[in-house]
Amino acid sequence: MFGDVGDYPVDPIMIGADLFAQDPRTDKLNLTVGVYENEQGQTPILTAVKRAESDLVALQKTKAYMALTGDADYYGSLGQEILGADLFTGHDFVSAQTAGGAVALRVMADFVAQLSRKPTIWLQSPTYGNYMPIVTAAGAPWRSVPYYDQLRCQMRFEEMLTGLEAARPGDLFLFQGVCHNPTGADLTKEQFGQLLDQLERLGVVPWIDLAYLGFGKGFEADCEQVRQIVGRFEECVVCVTLSKSFGIYRDRAGALFLKCKPETRERLQRAVSAIIRSGSSHAPDHGPAVVSRILSDPDLKSLWLQELEVMRKRVAGIRQEIVLLEQERYQRDTLAYLGRQSGMFSLLPLNSDQETALTRDHGIHVVRGGRVNVARLNSTTIPKLIEVFHQVISVR
Ligand SMILES: Cc1ncc(COP(=O)(O)O)c(C=O)c1O
Repeated sequence: MFGDVGDYPVDPIMIGADLFAQDPRTDKLNLTVGVYENEQGQTPILTAVKRAESDLVALQKTKAYMALTGDADYYGSLGQEILGADLFTGHDFVSAQTAGGAVALRVMADFVAQLSRKPTIWLQSPTYGNYMPIVTAAGAPWRSVPYYDQLRCQMRFEEMLTGLEAARPGDLFLFQGVCHNPTGADLTKEQFGQLLDQLERLGVVPWIDLAYLGFGKGFEADCEQVRQIVGRFEECVVCVTLSKSFGIYRDRAGALFLKCKPETRERLQRAVSAIIRSGSSHAPDHGPAVVSRILSDPDLKSLWLQELEVMRKRVAGIRQEIVLLEQERYQRDTLAYLGRQSGMFSLLPLNSDQETALTRDHGIHVVRGGRVNVARLNSTTIPKLIEVFHQVISVR
């Protein structure tokens, strides 16, 4: 029976990690994995998280099951924090605690796939590498519109809007609210306004995915887009992962918020609970409990926000350092676009031969398609990346 198994696609991020492990060179550089690192190459546990964890050891009274949609205090405080206390009343929303962002995305994709009308999910190209596998595994129809031109290092905004014209009312547009993965290129305020006008005109439901809150312009500013959506649309979808913003990747904290019409709320609540029950079932509690604890304690919250700012500033600083060093040493600005982008990821403007040379000849590992995690660079590896980049682009 097992012999009948088909050829499953492997996530390029995981392929990159495997190839890195097999590379025997001692000076190899891993820019594949989507995890923040400090200057010393460590992914530290935030002090706010450590303190919340020790509080939990003392305070937690039970490990009994919670509701299928999780702890109402958790998604309640998260909803208020991210969507805004005035917009997140709870009454217009069906909310769920999920095992990271991936499960929030999958629950929503399952929901879409089970609707009798089968709306299309519109994706951007390129976009987060796990969207397509998630919506495909759920059986939801999807199509994509252009988003970014890797070789020219610029957005394809007009083409994105043109592509979306083919969407039907009730379709969904899945896009990211901050620090776009893998491009690092976010919509400007004006472009975002134009996009919302178009979605509203077409009757397309916005589905926003938030994975890097606090890594763009700062936590409050990074919540701006989602608040605009929630304030303007009667129906919308918000997926959140806290893996990066709290540095609790393995503890799996995420959430799903569905804004709906009041008359739909009860049925929608049952649908979401049923989908969770038959799939991921109860979300783990530890990560979400840590987040809840931090958000409910003003001192811990302010400590967490400070630590998040340190991570944000380090990533932004690396981007500026690359730009300056390239100008100084090479009198070139081929990488200047990195300074205008934000978050952990960007795409290097390399064709596939140049990308192969980067890894094969120089031991710099990137995700297939050219994604680099700039947060894994430091003052020693930044000059190396720039030097090698210039060597490989000189070979066409
Ligand atoms: C844009 C985006 N959405 C969702 C996720 C999934 O996050 P999690 O690891 O919490 O499932 C990621 C993770 O890298 C991401 O980059």
